[in-house]
This record gives sequence, structure tokens and C-alpha cells, in this order.
Amino acid sequence: MKWRWRWNRQRSYIFVLCATLFFLSKYISNEKGRIDEEDEELSPVDLQEEEKKIECEPPGAIDSKCIADNGKPMRCWKDEEDVYFPASFLKKRFDMTGKVGKDGSTFELFTSYAKMRTPETNYDPLGAFGHFSTYSVETRDRVRCISAKTNVPMSTQWDTVPYYYPIQIAQYGLQHYSRLKIENSTRNKSEDDSKNGVILGVKSNEWKGAAGMHETTERLFFNDEEKGKVVNISAGYALANAGAYVYLDKSQNLHVVSFDWKPFDGNASFTVLAKMKQDDLLVLINYVFSEGNGKCVWQEEEKSYDEDIIVQKPRKDGQVSYSYSYVGNAPFGEWSTVTRDVLVDVARALSSGENRKKDDNVVLHPGDLRLVSLGFRGQLTVKQQINQREEQHLHAFRSAADWLVTNQDEKGGWAVPVERSIADRKLVLSPGWHSAMAQGHGISLLTRAYEHLHDVKYLFSAIKALELFKVNSSEGGVRAEFFGNVWYEEYPTTPGSFVLNGFLYSLIGLYDLSKLDVTQNEKSKIQEATDLYSAGIQSLKRLLPLYDTGSGTIYDLRHVFLGSAPNLARWDYHAVHVYLLKWIAGIEKDDFLSKTADRWIGYAYGKRAKHN
Ligand SMILES: *[C@@H]1O[C@H](CO)[C@@H](O)[C@H](O)[C@H]1NC(C)=O
Ligand SMILES: *[C@@H]1O[C@H](CO)[C@@H](O)[C@H](O)[C@H]1NC(C)=O
Ligand SMILES: *[C@@H]1O[C@H](CO)[C@@H](O)[C@H](O)[C@H]1NC(C)=O
Ligand SMILES: *[C@@H]1O[C@H](CO)[C@@H](O)[C@H](O)[C@H]1NC(C)=O
Repeated sequence: MKWRWRWNRQRSYIFVLCATLFFLSKYISNEKGRIDEEDEELSPVDLQEEEKKIECEPPGAIDSKCIADNGKPMRCWKDEEDVYFPASFLKKRFDMTGKVGKDGSTFELFTSYAKMRTPETNYDPLGAFGHFSTYSVETRDRVRCISAKTNVPMSTQWDTVPYYYPIQIAQYGLQHYSRLKIENSTRNKSEDDSKNGVILGVKSNEWKGAAGMHETTERLFFNDEEKGKVVNISAGYALANAGAYVYLDKSQNLHVVSFDWKPFDGNASFTVLAKMKQDDLLVLINYVFSEGNGKCVWQEEEKSYDEDIIVQKPRKDGQVSYSYSYVGNAPFGEWSTVTRDVLVDVARALSSGENRKKDDNVVLHPGDLRLVSLGFRGQLTVKQQINQREEQHLHAFRSAADWLVTNQDEKGGWAVPVERSIADRKLVLSPGWHSAMAQGHGISLLTRAYEHLHDVKYLFSAIKALELFKVNSSEGGVRAEFFGNVWYEEYPTTPGSFVLNGFLYSLIGLYDLSKLDVTQNEKSKIQEATDLYSAGIQSLKRLLPLYDTGSGTIYDLRHVFLGSAPNLARWDYHAVHVYLLKWIAGIEKDDFLSKTADRWIGYAYGKRAKHN
């Protein structure tokens, strides 16, 4: 029997539709694979459809026995014109996927579940970073918290104890910088920032003093030389004590809280009380000077809480309490500024259960909660003015850049404190390894920080980050060679792994620095960035064809040295390859790179290279 690959529209359509509905939940939802790098936050098209019961026999079809791929028996159907196979088989066999339309009557078969995107405008090395404004690092399931000590994310991807992952931190900074750029261009800059928020607590009668738990709370209002109107607070330090507090604005968009304070010892703490819209759950987020056993956020044990002070009606259930470790952020007896996005902190807290699974990740959106109050305990002085805003882009951007400056090692790198193994542990990086992607992302963030915040410390740090590009992987650097072509390694394994996307990101970092306008003193260092970039581009043009399978792309070149099968790129990484290649092709105005990217886009729509 001659089998024709011909889609008899009506018939095959109905069949594929019902067969797919049948297998949909089983197969297609599996497509939401783990993205195990910090390369990209891509989620496949949402394919979760409700299972529906539909009569699956195409008119006139007969249930037949078919054999596929060297003797494997399988179900199929045939009529006088054609033979029909289950969508689940087609999906696996031809690496395809599909979805039923919203109305349930259409079915779309497609090759790639990832959306192919290309950069929209000409790249500005000081502008928004790619499409990072659409990133949401703080809601990734592997992000345990935004640390209250450093205001940057902490990861639990490769270790259960939260640790700092430089790539993630740089992406967090670049994300917020990109949003800052995009939102500022649409906002009237001459307008006072307060239009974007509210100011509370300026009047002394806005400050409530709670005398709870046999403790008295004293408030003393006075003018501080440095800060103006302040309030000295002396209250019991137990978390069960409500202390002195201010009611917050309940506008759903104003979830960022900011204030200046001066804690006098490690017993001082503050708490934001928020109320979830969905179930009226009250969430207390305490910021405390405690190490928290290495956790950055943890749930407080059940304690009796004097509800009637802040909340009018008693709530024994309906209330949870979490703490964030604040130790080390504010030196005692000195002023510091606190800025917290409570929406993010509550979501991370609710996601922090000990035995949580990936699916337990809680993502909150503006409107999901309202802030109730901000309270202080212990001995402290706080500026009366409390600010509540919609966003904290500038603060997050600055925090990430400052983290990079503070945590750069003597080699100019940002070391990863956990082990990383790839290729079934054939390639292992011991804790303390460096990544060209971290160096590149770090430079991209620091050049923007230098430009936006006008502090040379960011420039010096970016320049220092070049050093590792000159050091071989085997010596703790990120430089490798592939048959004489230099490469900057996302994972500097020995032998090399030659991951494509991390290399491309590192080139963008080098490019950003090479374009920076600097004084004569730094010119030679900027030239170094230019040289490293040019050498990388030369390698890219030579080696790019090795990543092309004719129907998709390859993630890395591990197979060359390990003698294993090639590590084919998943469709979402394929999309990352396309985006980055177009990005660099645009910078270079290079036809070969651009045409290669176009061909790769074709692969996602089922096109393949011709065979002989
Ligand atoms: C920005 O706002 C100021 C004051 O409200 C106004 O005078 C000015 O025309 C506005 N500029 C733009 C570009 O809208
Ligand atoms: C505020 O409190 C601190 C610490 O308790 C104390 O040293 C300081 O004198 C107080 N200031 C005023 C004006 O009372
Ligand atoms: C907290 O207060 C207690 C009692 O005043 C004191 O002994 C302790 O040292 C304080 N803790 C810190 C971390 O300052
Ligand atoms: C680094 O690697 C290159 C090529 O593999 C080699 O020629 C060079 O000598 C190495 N440099 C050091 C310092 O080991």
C-alpha cells in the first residue's frame, strides 16, 4: 500500500483532532520541560487544554493494524483514500506538537512550540537589553527569594541552600534596567516621582503605638539634623508585638514600600502586613536581623499574635507569618534605606515550603493583594515619611550592579559557589567556577550602571571583568579553543563544551563595553574589549555551521570531544539561538549570520535543508 502524506482536510482533520484530544494531556503537557540554565525564561505555548470527548472515528474509516519503524505494532486507521496515524505518534516520531483551537473545532499542527522572535530595533549598547524587559526573574520557580540583605535574587536551582548565581543576578538587573528605559520613555519625566506613588506617615498622628504583650511602645517625634522629621521608637522586640505602625495605602498597584531607618541593635525589626484578595489570608512578612539558618525566607512557627491591634477582628487561622533575613544590610546606629516589593516578597514566602514542588511556585500579580500596615519593633529611629510605589526598577537595577561590584573576585570574576555537572557528570565544574555568560551579562549591566548612575566604580568593575576572557578554562578562566578558534565558555569544562547561547551573550557584553565613551586613561582597556569581541565574532562565523543540523540547532559541541550523541537544542533554546544570532547579525550588519538565522527560523516552521 502506498501511503501518501496528503492531508485530506476534512477527514484527517477530524481524526487528528480527536486523536490529539485523546493524547493531549498525556503527551503535550509534558512539553513544559525544565529550563535548566539561566539563559532564558521561555515557556512553551500554553497547551493545556481540557480533555474533551469526541467521537474519534473518521467517517468510513476502519481500525487497522499498522507497523512502524522496524516492526513496532501500532494503531492506525484507513479508508479508501488514506491512512491515519495518532497525533501522539506523529508528535514523537516527527518532533511535532499541536493544539486545539479555543472553539474546539480547529486543530493546529506545528513543529516548534517556542515562539520565534527577532530583535525589534537597532541595538543600543546602553539601551534596553534585548527583550529582557519581558523577563520576570523574581517569579522563576528556582528563585528562592529576593534577599533582604542584598536586594538581589538567590537561587536554589543546583543546591537546596539558597546561593547567589551571578547570571541570574545580572539578568535581574538588566530586566529592571530595560523596564526603566521603556517605561521612562513613555512617562513624562518632569513629573514628580510621587505621582507614581503615595507618601504616608508624615503626620505624627498617622503613627499608631501598640501596647501589646505587656510591653509599652513609646514614640518620640523630633527633627533629625540629617533626615528632618523622624520618630524614635522603643517597643518590645518579640514578633508577637505589633510595635509602632502606620497604615498603608490599599491601592492595589502600590506594592513597593520604601523608607529610611536607623536600627540600634539586632533586636530591631519591621513587618509588612498584607491581605490576599482571593481568600482574605493575612500574610505577615517580618524583616529580622537573623541568619535564619542560611535560608533567606522561612515560615515563622505558630505564635499567638495580638490581632486586635492591627486587625480588628481576631483571626486565629487565616494568618501566616514569614521572615526574611535582613542581617548585614543595615549597620546598627546608621541610616539606611529599605525598599521592598512586597508583592514579590509575599509570593516568594508562600513558595518557600520545605517540600515544595515546581508546581507550587506562587506567582502574584498586582491586585492579588493589598498592603495593610508597616510596623516596627525594638529600638530604632525611622524617618516619618513612608513611600509606597508601583515599581522599584531603579533600585533593583542599582542593587544588582552594586552586588557585582562588591562580589567581584581578584580575577575579575563572579564565581558560582555550587558544583555544576553536565553530560552525565562527564564534565564537572567544582564550586568556584566562572562563566563567560556571567562575565558578559555582568559587563552589560555594569556599562549601563556607569552610564546611568555616573559612578566610575561600575566602569572599573566592567573592565576588570575582561581578565577572565584571557585566561584558559584549565586555569580557572573562560577561554577555550576549538581547533584554533577562540571561544568564551558558559561552562568552562575540560575538554570544552562550547555552548552557543552563552558564547553569544558574552559577545554582547564585550560589544557593550567596546562602545563605551571613556576618557583617555581607559581607552586601551576598551580596545581590549574590542579585540576580544572581534576575535569572538571571527570564531562565530567559522564555527556557526557546526551548530546547524539542517532541521534544528545544536546546543553545544560536547559530542566532538566526548564521542557522544550531539546535544540537540530544545525548541525554546533554538528560539534563543535565533534571537541572539539576529541580535549580533544586526550589530555586525552581517549577511551570513542573518541568513543563517532566517534558515533557522524556517526549521521551526517545518522547513528542512535539502538532502542529496
Ligand atoms: C510634562 O509635564 C509638564 C508639567 O505637567 C508639562 O508642562 C509638559 O508639557 C509635559 N511634557 C510632555 C512632553 O508631555
Ligand atoms: C532615640 O533613641 C536612641 C536609642 O534609644 C537614643 O540614643 C536617642 O537619644 C534618641 N533620640 C531622642 C531625640 O530621644
Ligand atoms: C536583644 O536584646 C537583648 C535584651 O536587651 C540583648 O541581651 C541582646 O544582646 C539583644 N540582641 C541583639 C542581637 O542585639
Ligand atoms: C591557553 O590555551 C592555548 C590553546 O589551547 C595555548 O596555546 C596556551 O599556551 C594556553 N595558555 C596558557 C597560559 O596555558
